[in-house]
Amino acid sequence: MAGELEVVASALVAPGKGILAADESSGTIEKRFTSIGVESTEENRRGYRDLLLTTEGAADHISGVILYDETIRQSSADGTAFPAKLNEQEIIPGIKVDKGAKPLAGAAGETVTEGLDGLRERLEEYRGLGARFTKWRAVITIGDGIPSEYCIWTNAHALARFAALSQEAGLVPIVEPEVLMDGTHTIERSFDVTSRTLHAVFTELRDQRVHFEGMLLKPNMILSGYECQEQAGVEQVAAETITCFRRHVPAAVPGIVFLSGGQTDEAASAHLNAMNLSGPHPWELSFSYGRALQAPALKAWRGDPDNVTAAQAAYLHRARMNGLARSGSYSPELEAQVPAQT
Ligand code: 13P
Repeated sequence: MAGELEVVASALVAPGKGILAADESSGTIEKRFTSIGVESTEENRRGYRDLLLTTEGAADHISGVILYDETIRQSSADGTAFPAKLNEQEIIPGIKVDKGAKPLAGAAGETVTEGLDGLRERLEEYRGLGARFTKWRAVITIGDGIPSEYCIWTNAHALARFAALSQEAGLVPIVEPEVLMDGTHTIERSFDVTSRTLHAVFTELRDQRVHFEGMLLKPNMILSGYECQEQAGVEQVAAETITCFRRHVPAAVPGIVFLSGGQTDEAASAHLNAMNLSGPHPWELSFSYGRALQAPALKAWRGDPDNVTAAQAAYLHRARMNGLARSGSYSPELEAQVPAQT
């Protein structure tokens, strides 16, 4: 079992490739669709995911896709179930298994992620549906007097319970403690809070006997808060992020797959590129982006079947840019090479 987990974890961080997070919950995908004036019906959600999952050439840069509960049960236009459609392209299907961040009792402004009840049974079902890896996202907010140690440790405990159950089911857990970058905080504050969070997460993972070689970490990068007066540049973001992770993430973990967390598409590529340029590092440094891979495709699509080709071209371009950032081969000049949109 440990061997199988290690094989899948390594395949997910294969050179030049990263993960597409297409696991938006019903509420989140509705927000995304509203932003382009599209109604969030089951068929529109299926059609949009179909467009992404059938983009020719994406498999050159995409190792795995994180699906949502509804999507893993849906099929492509040709009737092939989405997990099988991904397997045809040698892309590994994964599944988000948490049930979202809910208010944490007695801790104003803080949340804890729920979804542990019945998780063992759900994991078994997802494995039967074709999933080979899982994801659980905890949310840590920076603000006045927060995050509390209570919030950090409660979320870390739940993340480790998820990871242990996932490995028991033969599924590689992607452990996602996201420190939000919304706010006026400085990059130093991001560094401090991310350090406290990673310390708690790896303490809990170890205490709960999680096999480090068979998991991946999905963290935030260390940035200046988006509303901070002083914005750190690409080099500083890369240096602070690497310093923090070297201190807290065991070398036994095969890969760190960053979330994009509201960065612009190009910043997410540039930051990952700069980190890989400063390697070698103890772990693979890769991406598991949602918005930074999908935003241009969503805009190009706007719910119109006539725009599918243009949307796929936009997605493929971002996948390629981030694939290049895996080896430090990205540069902003390459952004002009968007494939012709017919
Ligand atoms: P973003 O890259 O849009 O932050 O999404 C990644 C993700 O999966 C959040 O859970």
